[in-house]
Amino acid sequence: MSKIMVIGGAGYIGSHVVKSLLEKNYHIILLDNFSKGHYASIPSMSNNITTLSGDLGDAALLNDIFLQHKITVVMHFAAMIEVAESVQNPAAYYLNNVVKVYTLLEEMRKHKISNFIFSSTAATFGIPHSDLIDEHHSQIPINPYGHSKLMVEQFLKDYAYAYPDFVYMIFRYFNACGGDPQGRIGYSYHPPSHLLPVLMEVAAGNRDEFKIFGNDYATPDGTCIRDYVHVSDIANAHILGMEKMLNDRISDHFNLGTGYGTSVKEMVDLAKKITKINFNIRYDQRRPGDPDKLVCNPKKANTILDWHTKYSLSDMIQSAWYWINNKTY
Ligand code: UFG
Repeated sequence: MSKIMVIGGAGYIGSHVVKSLLEKNYHIILLDNFSKGHYASIPSMSNNITTLSGDLGDAALLNDIFLQHKITVVMHFAAMIEVAESVQNPAAYYLNNVVKVYTLLEEMRKHKISNFIFSSTAATFGIPHSDLIDEHHSQIPINPYGHSKLMVEQFLKDYAYAYPDFVYMIFRYFNACGGDPQGRIGYSYHPPSHLLPVLMEVAAGNRDEFKIFGNDYATPDGTCIRDYVHVSDIANAHILGMEKMLNDRISDHFNLGTGYGTSVKEMVDLAKKITKINFNIRYDQRRPGDPDKLVCNPKKANTILDWHTKYSLSDMIQSAWYWINNKTY
């Protein structure tokens, strides 16, 4: 039985992809170093999942895993993902997001594993020069996080050119948020830094106030605009992309978002409405590395993968609110 290796499968996006893969009866080898991932996110009753603890930068460990298991596809979700942190500590980002991925790709090549799924990001685009960002948009990142992801995108293109068996799918996520509609898994980083989890913490009374980072951006209300997309919709795109890659033996890259932009202020107002809690907000300084606006043009994924988002912004906030009040990890 061939297996899918999910690296970072106990993290936020990885755990939602694991859930989607199990629903389709795939067999999974989950590797996580549990620096941010949670054992509790892994379904304990499933026979279709083998969980391993270790780091993707450990070549000897990867070698052992690839000898022991017949792995067809490797999926990578084990990146560091915080823009502001990457500006403060670029070395950690280049080590974790670039050097370790190189180690992984080389071990895969040694073992003739030639199918790779890579989580990239809208942060590779930098400052947008069009209202909606499609796959032809220039990629000029403005923070180390975006650079680290773009470097690996380039690895993959060069590998696919030089090593003819190698194929990949790159998914550039816009702002993933929300949680599993059944409420079993969700976002759990301590302390959270992303907009919606922080909003939920404030609404739940775990923080005194919500700080809006900057209100002098070139947007209608002065706060940054992002394209928020439900994590379960993102997970579903991976299944569609993986199946296309395996059936057609092609490499491709897709932007994953809804096509709708929402400002930080609009998110605050909607969060207040849905939680029915009128929490305090404060305008604070801009956060380094934040572009004014990032909104996806999802047409390519809609057309080629037949990927269509199912969940609304309200669903994202409702599921995040449910999660913070009922979370198990
Ligand atoms: N924000 C606040 N207050 C907070 C937290 C966030 O005002 O307490 C603002 C940010 O300044 C930004 C917006 O909310 O304007 C969204 O910030 P997030 O930290 O939630 O997300 P980012 O847009 O910085 O980055 C996220 C992912 C990246 C991905 C990017 C794509 O972390 O991996 O979305 O748009 F690349």
